[in-house]
Amino acid sequence: MNRQGSVSPGTAAPAEERSCSWMKPWVFLVSALAIKTALVTIYLVAPFSRKGDQPTALQQAFTEWRCISAEPQERGWMCCPKGWKRFQKSCYYISGNIMPWAESVQNCTGMGSHLVVINSKAEQVFVSEEIQQSSKGLYYFIGLSAEKVGQWQWVDKTPFSVSAAYWRKGQPSNKDDQKCVAIQRASEPPNNWNDLTCEHHHRVCEAAAVTV
Ligand SMILES: *[C@@H]1O[C@H](CO)[C@@H](O)[C@H](O)[C@H]1NC(C)=O
Repeated sequence: MNRQGSVSPGTAAPAEERSCSWMKPWVFLVSALAIKTALVTIYLVAPFSRKGDQPTALQQAFTEWRCISAEPQERGWMCCPKGWKRFQKSCYYISGNIMPWAESVQNCTGMGSHLVVINSKAEQVFVSEEIQQSSKGLYYFIGLSAEKVGQWQWVDKTPFSVSAAYWRKGQPSNKDDQKCVAIQRASEPPNNWNDLTCEHHHRVCEAAAVTV
C-alpha cells in the first residue's frame, strides 16, 4: 500500500485506519472484553473449578461467598459461605434455630460441613466468643457425643483427648441420658462444655475454608 499517496483528501482517513487497525473501536472493545473475561475467570470461576478438583460439598451447597486474602506465606484467597465465620482455615456456622443432636448432625452434613470439632484452645475460644456474640440460645451442640457413658467420640473420628477437653466445672455429669455435648453460652471460656440430653439445642457447624 502506498501511504504517501493517502495524503490526498478523501482517502487519508481509510488509509490511516488500515495502518493502525488496533485502534479501531471494536478491536479495543473485544480486547477489553477478553481481559475482563480472563480476570473474572481467574478470580471467580477458576477458584471453584480447578483442574481435576471436584468441588467440595461446601462449594456445592453455597453460591455466595466472602473471601479474604490468605496468610502472608500463602497465595490466594480463603473463602467461607456468606453468613459463616472464618477462623484460621475453617468456616463456622452458628445456628439461629434448635433441633435434636441427630438432626443437627444431618443439617451440618447437608450443608457440606460437620458439627464443630475442637482441635485447639484457640479454636475453642474463637467458637465460644462467636456464640457469646450471637446472643440466641444457651446451649450449642458440638461434634462430641458418647454411645456409652463416658466414651466421648468426635464426629470426624478425631481421637478424644482429655487434655484438649474444655468441660465446665463439675462436668461432665456422665449420666446415662446425657450423651451429647454443648458449649454453654453463659459460662466463661474456655471451660464451657456441658454434657446434656440429645434434645433440641443450637449447633455449630464447621467446614474447611475454600482456598482459591
Ligand atoms: C440447616 O438449617 C438451616 C437453618 O434452619 C437451613 O437454612 C438449612 O437449609 C438447613 N440445611 C439442611 C441441609 O438441612
